[in-house]
Amino acid sequence: MRRTLVIAKPDAVERRLVGEIVRRLEQKGLRLVAAELRMIGAETAAAHYAEHEGKAFYSDLISFITRSPSFVMVVEGPEDTWKIVRAMMGPTDPAEAPPGTIRGDFGTEMTENLVHGSDGAEAATREISLFFPGL
Ligand code: CMP
Repeated sequence: MRRTLVIAKPDAVERRLVGEIVRRLEQKGLRLVAAELRMIGAETAAAHYAEHEGKAFYSDLISFITRSPSFVMVVEGPEDTWKIVRAMMGPTDPAEAPPGTIRGDFGTEMTENLVHGSDGAEAATREISLFFPGL
């Protein structure tokens, strides 16, 4: 799987960090295949985050991701591009995200963590068809 879904979340759009995030992905050598600034609705958010339903942070997560537009992208590169993007994002916990990663350079919050990237080939396939059916 050479493609992965990347979301610059509402905090990234609000903080005018979309250009910086796209710049990093492109400078790494990855290519945008699709991209759109859009509101993620409650239904799409619930489908996207189904695995987190019932967790303590779930309702905050849904409120956050649906509160203002996100910049949703499909990014392409070599096999397992999802791994490259995950490394560039840094871990979810901002205290563990090293400088040089997107979260390490720009984030301090667990929920408002700027970016989402698919966490495997299967997730990439599912998430791309959820956000860009027919791609
Ligand atoms: P994301 O990679 O989009 O996937 C799940 C999201 O839940 C995660 O980024 C965070 O925005 C959010 N989240 C909030 N708290 C936690 C937590 N304790 N563990 C994992 N994810 C969390």
